[in-house]
Amino acid sequence: MSEDVESILAVDWDIPWKEYPPKLVLLPSGERMVIREARREEVPKLLQAIRPLLTVEKDFYDIVAARLYGEVLGWYRHRARNEFVLVGIVDGKLAGISNNRAVDQKTHVSLHTIALKRGARAGAHMFAAKQENSMENLGAEEILVTAESPIGFRRLISQWCEPRPGVQHELGGAKTWVITRDIYKKVKPQQVFGSRPVPDDLLKRSATFEIAPLDWVPRK
Ligand SMILES: CC(C)(COP(=O)(O)OP(=O)(O)OC[C@H]1O[C@@H](n2cnc3c(N)ncnc32)[C@H](O)[C@@H]1OP(=O)(O)O)[C@@H](O)C(=O)NCCC(=O)NCCS
Repeated sequence: MSEDVESILAVDWDIPWKEYPPKLVLLPSGERMVIREARREEVPKLLQAIRPLLTVEKDFYDIVAARLYGEVLGWYRHRARNEFVLVGIVDGKLAGISNNRAVDQKTHVSLHTIALKRGARAGAHMFAAKQENSMENLGAEEILVTAESPIGFRRLISQWCEPRPGVQHELGGAKTWVITRDIYKKVKPQQVFGSRPVPDDLLKRSATFEIAPLDWVPRK
């Protein structure tokens, strides 16, 4: 494809962007998770981590993984506008991924959250962190949300959102819920945790990540 066509097709951030300030979250297990913004060059490794989940039916990991895979690849290949991706890293290993997209400065869309480490609230913290980034760092007024899995609905949506009837979410036209600025303020004390700055040694340890085996995935 010629350079000219690529310049027509490529999209990236077209509203003000600021990097998510990394934070440290204490998990119930006593482990410490660093949540930071992913770098575009890390995408091939993120795709490698997501790939084994594409066929995991348990808890709808398959549909969430497939869509997340496409979105992260879209960001890498400049086919997604205003998308950010956060990673959670525990002891140098990837524990969770979440992403959102801004339609414009005011309206953000909640895309996906996936826990690679289970039973540690890693996913709940990743969901909270991306809404924190949209609201507090990037200045969104509202975030449109949907759920693909009952566990996602129970652990994430029902804790955070109110319904927005009559609006189709960009994820397949599914039902939409919304996190307004007022809801965010109300929910924040119960859901958004973490401390800053992250100590240097932990930040360094989390600058890259390994892909841990998915020992919770049921064997066929
Ligand atoms: C939704 C999600 C992000 C929540 O992540 P989380 O907060 O870290 O929670 P976990 O995934 O560890 O789920 C813990 C729950 O699952 C159960 N569970 C299932 N398998 C488990 C395992 N191997 N280890 C521990 N808990 C497990 C626990 O009993 C616990 O149940 P509870 O809600 O009654 O306490 C995560 O479950 C996930 O990635 N699901 C698939 C993708 C998805 O649905 N994303 C959201 C789209 S709306």
